[in-house]
Amino acid sequence: MDAFWMPFTANRQFKSAPRMLVSADGMYYTDDQGRKILDGSAGLWCVTAGHNRKPIVEAVQRQVATLDYAPPFQMAHPKAFEAADKLVAMAPKGLSKAFFVGSGSEAVDTALKMAVAYHRVRGDAARVKLIGRERGYHGVNFGGISVGGMAGNRKHFPVSLPAVDHLRSTHDLARNAFSRGEPEHGAEFADELEARILTLHDPSTIAAVIVEPMAGSTGVLIPPKGYLRRLREICDRYGILLIFDEVITGFGRLGADWAANKFGVLPDIITCAKGLTNGVVPMGALLVKPEIHDAFMAAAGERMIEFPHGYTYSAHPLACAAAIASLDLYRDEQLFERAAGLSAYFEERAHALRGQPYVKDIRNLGLVAGIELDSRAGAAGQRGFDVFLKCWEQGVLVRFTGDILAVSPPLIIEKHEIDRLFETIASALRACE
Ligand SMILES: Cc1ncc(COP(=O)(O)O)c(C=O)c1O
Repeated sequence: MDAFWMPFTANRQFKSAPRMLVSADGMYYTDDQGRKILDGSAGLWCVTAGHNRKPIVEAVQRQVATLDYAPPFQMAHPKAFEAADKLVAMAPKGLSKAFFVGSGSEAVDTALKMAVAYHRVRGDAARVKLIGRERGYHGVNFGGISVGGMAGNRKHFPVSLPAVDHLRSTHDLARNAFSRGEPEHGAEFADELEARILTLHDPSTIAAVIVEPMAGSTGVLIPPKGYLRRLREICDRYGILLIFDEVITGFGRLGADWAANKFGVLPDIITCAKGLTNGVVPMGALLVKPEIHDAFMAAAGERMIEFPHGYTYSAHPLACAAAIASLDLYRDEQLFERAAGLSAYFEERAHALRGQPYVKDIRNLGLVAGIELDSRAGAAGQRGFDVFLKCWEQGVLVRFTGDILAVSPPLIIEKHEIDRLFETIASALRACE
């Protein structure tokens, strides 16, 4: 086990007691002991339609045997155009251009570069600053951690893009603990953009504001009612682009296709990944307003590259095949509607954990729930880790971030599996110190 330096993992702990997954089907993993593990986290928020889905597996198998790779620069293959058409057809109305990348982190850094370059090609080159938010997670590349606000992920890398600032987090347990769905309080957190940040920096220097509509990886922080709309209004007033990072919230997680549609707020750019291919092949994408695309086209000569950016694996044929099959499957099985239909039941079961040991907040939307625990004195994060391990011992996979548990199952989950998920968490909490 020596050679593999595992990402985002307590390597020494893992190697002392490995948790090894060897196969998967539907809602379940199988580990190397032959145990079935209920997948309460859709892998890493990405296995939207459950595991080992035939139409996706077969599409990828066919693709690898037909066209394994094609260079994406100055060349293309038909599936790239088909995947873009399919994605745009299901995108929020008004976002009609798709740019493919290899992951969520790449999508974010691409979006930040696109925003800055967009202003420049329009002759507004002073707009270079990027505004993120505390407790935001936008992947791990330098752009993403610069605008991100996950303190633990930043402290090892005290180098940032120079021109960034952060809105405050909307997390407000004093007023919003145990909210069901969108919290009542906190729309005014958006006003800080105008009152503090734009005043401090001068609005004409700001290129874009990027937020996760619902912050996932920092602990399921649901936006307060009206908050995103206010951000949109302020951005509009000052010619600032609004980017929604929908790497988690895209593809049905919140009980609607996109968070943008769920909240009725259209950003200028959406970043997505994860569910785009059901987690089967790495892929990310940007959904972009045509005005942004057209500005690049208008600014460059006929044979010039309009946006000098892309990756070796942009629009990889296997990823495109997986995306096409995944989006078809989501539509054919009406999985986003299914998530919406199950969300009331899921909410009830999540909130039934109230009163269990250490539970200081429960929050939920669609098929995602966050359960925030009291931290152990002097050992923040250890209780979350313990609960995760105890759930694993009982055959259930959940995510934890510090002392917050995140539950986000594949959208094919059945009610009895929702029961088991939350009952296992309850029993893990009771067994925990
Ligand atoms: C909102 C958000 N943005 C970006 C990322 C990074 O995606 P990736 O791990 O595919 O680079 C994530 C991953 O969890 C995410 O949740």
